[in-house]
Amino acid sequence: MSERANLTPAVLLTKEQIAKRVRELAEQISVDYARQELLVIGVLKGSWIFLADLVRLITVPITVDFMMASSYGAGTNSSGEVKMVLDLKSPLEGRDVLVVEDIMDSGLTLKYIIDNLKLRRPRSLKIVALMDKPDRRRADIKADYIGFKIPDKFVVGYGVDFAERFRNLPYVGYIEGPMAKG
Ligand code: IMP
Ligand code: MG
Repeated sequence: MSERANLTPAVLLTKEQIAKRVRELAEQISVDYARQELLVIGVLKGSWIFLADLVRLITVPITVDFMMASSYGAGTNSSGEVKMVLDLKSPLEGRDVLVVEDIMDSGLTLKYIIDNLKLRRPRSLKIVALMDKPDRRRADIKADYIGFKIPDKFVVGYGVDFAERFRNLPYVGYIEGPMAKG
């Protein structure tokens, strides 16, 4: 086990702040999709805990599917070249689709995903991102619902990892300095 695994990340968003904001997002989504049925798509792995909390507070009928995309290039900078690792089981044609993402950073991964999903002719396609780092954006893409705008820090917890660790932290924390480069 690396020494980094024992590190306690500093708090950026408490679990109470997250819970409150997730409830607000779910309420807004439930209003916006009133009388519709939603196909909620989780982008693995980072969105899984956020999605689990969010869908339990959404009051319109939903189905859930997952996909996984992986950005080539090591470290914390997205290369922009994206590989689809796991595709959806559900057809999207005519469906109202809500993509659930953990963090929008450069936006390159999500741009690739959204462009790909659009080809499948959903009736509507929106994005909810728990966190947004607007200062880092390189792709022309915006989320329709954003939980928190955050500074350009490397964050972990509430589903989000550093080298697959820290996903089970109940809050969102950040790691500073050289630790963050991996
Ligand atoms: P993008 O393509 O640069 O927008 O990268 C988005 C993906 O990179 C997110 O879905 C996360 O999985 C990952 N990511 C971006 N920022 C962070 C971070 O601060 N901590 C952990 N993962 C991150
Ligand atoms: Mg990730």
